[in-house]
Amino acid sequence: MAKVKKLTSFQAPKGMHDLLPQDQVWWDKFRKEVKEVVEFYNFARIDTPILEDAALFERSVGEATDIVEKQMFVFRTKGDDRLVLRPEGTASVMRAYIQHGLSHMGQPLKLFYEGPLFRYERPQAGRYRQFHQFGLEILGGDDDPIYEVQVIVPILRILESLKLKKMVVKVNTIGCKTCRPVYIKKLQDYYKGFTKQICKDCNRRLHTNPLRLLDCKEPDCQKIKQGAPSILDSICSFCNKHFKSFLEYVEELGLPYQLDVTLVRGLDYYNRTVFEVFIEGSDAALASGGRYDYLAEILGGRSTPAVGGAIGIERVLEAMKASGMQPTVKNRAKIFLIYIGALAKKRMLSLLEEFRKSNIHVSESFGKNSLNAQLRSANKDGAALALILGQKEAFEGSVIIRDLKTGVQETVPLKKIVVEIKKRI
Ligand code: HAM
Repeated sequence: MAKVKKLTSFQAPKGMHDLLPQDQVWWDKFRKEVKEVVEFYNFARIDTPILEDAALFERSVGEATDIVEKQMFVFRTKGDDRLVLRPEGTASVMRAYIQHGLSHMGQPLKLFYEGPLFRYERPQAGRYRQFHQFGLEILGGDDDPIYEVQVIVPILRILESLKLKKMVVKVNTIGCKTCRPVYIKKLQDYYKGFTKQICKDCNRRLHTNPLRLLDCKEPDCQKIKQGAPSILDSICSFCNKHFKSFLEYVEELGLPYQLDVTLVRGLDYYNRTVFEVFIEGSDAALASGGRYDYLAEILGGRSTPAVGGAIGIERVLEAMKASGMQPTVKNRAKIFLIYIGALAKKRMLSLLEEFRKSNIHVSESFGKNSLNAQLRSANKDGAALALILGQKEAFEGSVIIRDLKTGVQETVPLKKIVVEIKKRI
């Protein structure tokens, strides 16, 4: 018989977190800055389902990537569809772009999204099984390198507006269909001389996903990486020109960039420019992305140059907390409604609605009957004023305004209470 779980022993699934009320101020702050930036740079929101066809990511992110090989939450539905909890957002956005013929909208189309992603990873700080990204994608138009900059700049502006300092954007190019195979051959030839020294995973990567050899964190592999040929010596003249123009734009804006010829990214759909954003000295990317001109065709659409990037929201919130910043909580004048007796309780229900109509924020603890308990709630809430409606006031049609700091009280007609309160806030 299946073991019965004690009711109290349920926990959120490993690597997945509840976002509690006290966490929300951080999310609100993040979303507020995002809203300003996306509005300024003219990105429109897109939301795609959390579930997708598993093959979407197998085909686009790549069969030999960690995401597809090890990290997808795949399942069969009752109707025998093979679905996956989306591990990333770019393939979904491109799927929606093709499915809905969005190429007929003004091009390039600048889109953004925010939502949860799922990867079966070993949970650790900054690495979760359910996490959230804010992503930007520029689809269609030319393969102009200005679009890379138009993705990186808003990402940096968001991070700056959250007061994160010492940002660095690591950039590289991984060439195109024509020149990348030439480089991969050189890379394989180089690593073939080190098969005994490199780790088991790298021996596998040598055949399945050679570019990822440059990404290995094992100390022995890192040493060998230092002597590896640079992709910059292998890229074709078109990719070279593209990367040069990109760097010129980056320099024009004075963006804090660092060329890193070993930056290759963990998803197969990229070509040419790739980037990752870090806080100096940290090795967890806050954001990352790149160009993916072939993705549309891989998914059965027409050739559509595209570029994008995504911020890992949890990582950014953790960096905000580590930097000592405190999100400011909106300071509303706090008014607390208190009643004594059944008639007053009913009247208070209507009064609360009147305040709502007048857009005046008030709090209450209507479930508590005793005056003392309600006063304690008002104090706990940090209320400045209490509006007290007793039996007598309910009959007379008046209400007491009490300053909770000084204890000074004043009785005013119930009909005029909203006007009276407006004068005081
Ligand atoms: P990615 O590098 O896999 O790229 O993820 C983007 C960002 O999400 C990372 O830089 C990191 O901040 C955050 N992240 C990734 N995995 C985790 C995790 N397990 N826990 C917490 N945070 C994580 C993509 O997903 C691409 N779709 C980005 C992109 C958009 N490229 C073009 N457009």
